[in-house]
Amino acid sequence: MRQFQLKNLRQIELKNKNVFMRVDFNVPLKDKKIIDSYRIEKAFPSIEYVLEQGGRLVLASHLGRPKGKVDKELSLKPVAKYLSEAKNLEVFFIEDPKSLLPKKLLKGLKKTQVILLENLRFHKGEESLDKNFAKRIASYTDIYVNEGFGISHRKNSSVTLIPELVSQRALGFQFEKELEKLDIILDNKIKKPFCVILGGSKLEDKIPLMEALLDKMDELLVGGLMSYTFLKAQGKQVGQTFVEEKRLSKVREFIERLEVRNRKIFLPVDFIVEDEGKIKTVTQSHFPESAIGKDIGPKTREIFDKRIQQAHSIFWNGPLGLFEKEEFSMGTHHITKALIQNKQAYRVVGGGHSALALRGFEQEVDHVSTGGGASLFYLKGQGLPGLKSLLSELSPLENQLRQEI
Ligand code: 3PG
Repeated sequence: MRQFQLKNLRQIELKNKNVFMRVDFNVPLKDKKIIDSYRIEKAFPSIEYVLEQGGRLVLASHLGRPKGKVDKELSLKPVAKYLSEAKNLEVFFIEDPKSLLPKKLLKGLKKTQVILLENLRFHKGEESLDKNFAKRIASYTDIYVNEGFGISHRKNSSVTLIPELVSQRALGFQFEKELEKLDIILDNKIKKPFCVILGGSKLEDKIPLMEALLDKMDELLVGGLMSYTFLKAQGKQVGQTFVEEKRLSKVREFIERLEVRNRKIFLPVDFIVEDEGKIKTVTQSHFPESAIGKDIGPKTREIFDKRIQQAHSIFWNGPLGLFEKEEFSMGTHHITKALIQNKQAYRVVGGGHSALALRGFEQEVDHVSTGGGASLFYLKGQGLPGLKSLLSELSPLENQLRQEI
């Protein structure tokens, strides 16, 4: 089957074309204000380029997980405000992407104007892959652009279905950069020793990644909530800290596989814990029965720092402690500093909290991804659904649907 060639924006004639750009503006908000605009900033060169070239732009994103229902707290209105105030764009905010309004507005759209659709996940059709939902949006789209790397691991209508209903498709500039930087790890072009640092909570997402990187990495440093499951799997005391009991045997098996390959794993040896309302530093052998682990301790910071300094390539995803709280953010900040210090290494940081810890220092490392889950998914080496949809040939059903548009 012939495959569509993956194009970037520069390879497409955009003038007077209706361009639907799927972005990932799933940004953290507080009191309806954006507290981290990194994802918007990173999409901006693609947005500007489309407008400069005379394309008529529709921006579309999700925000949070409203599960097909309107939730005012998850409205993209703060993003519309940001685009108009910080980026000087006139924004037409469309509540219903299925309405005829975008089609009407697109006709007269000027270079300083964009359409922003309300949170796509307010509609069931976005996550249920409803063909009619996708068809309605495709009916006012000439060119589909994916500039939402952070969402490209999800099978959502706007990620995997709409592109298959549109014959002209392209990757945004940031998406291309994400692939280029992550491919260096994926294709094993990294210099050894390669050190992987993982933290955060969800082992479900991390185990497949660890397995995929098993033969590439030399050392694995584990912190954050997930490290307590590793410690428990080794029979260590973790007090009242949450442990993913059902993954203990999987973790044990993984540690054995590391050992067989002579790969080193470093787990925390001391901790900042909360014990009956008090914050304490404890060692592994004296972990109180009543305590909950919240951050890595000073000795662990030192050990991790040394491992980071001797590495020639580093991939980091996930905070080392409960980073949102000042009193438990030291471990994550320490790792950030260590990473910045080792200037000789190739350094990639996945999205999420680890990326947040690096805000303002992005230029000091090789890459800070806009997608946490997506970068982990991509590094597993099985591609991204959003990317596959850009490449796929139209199936007979899709051809038929396109004719109905
Ligand atoms: C993210 O923040 O990781 C992306 O926007 C995907 O969001 P989701 O996990 O709710 O699909």
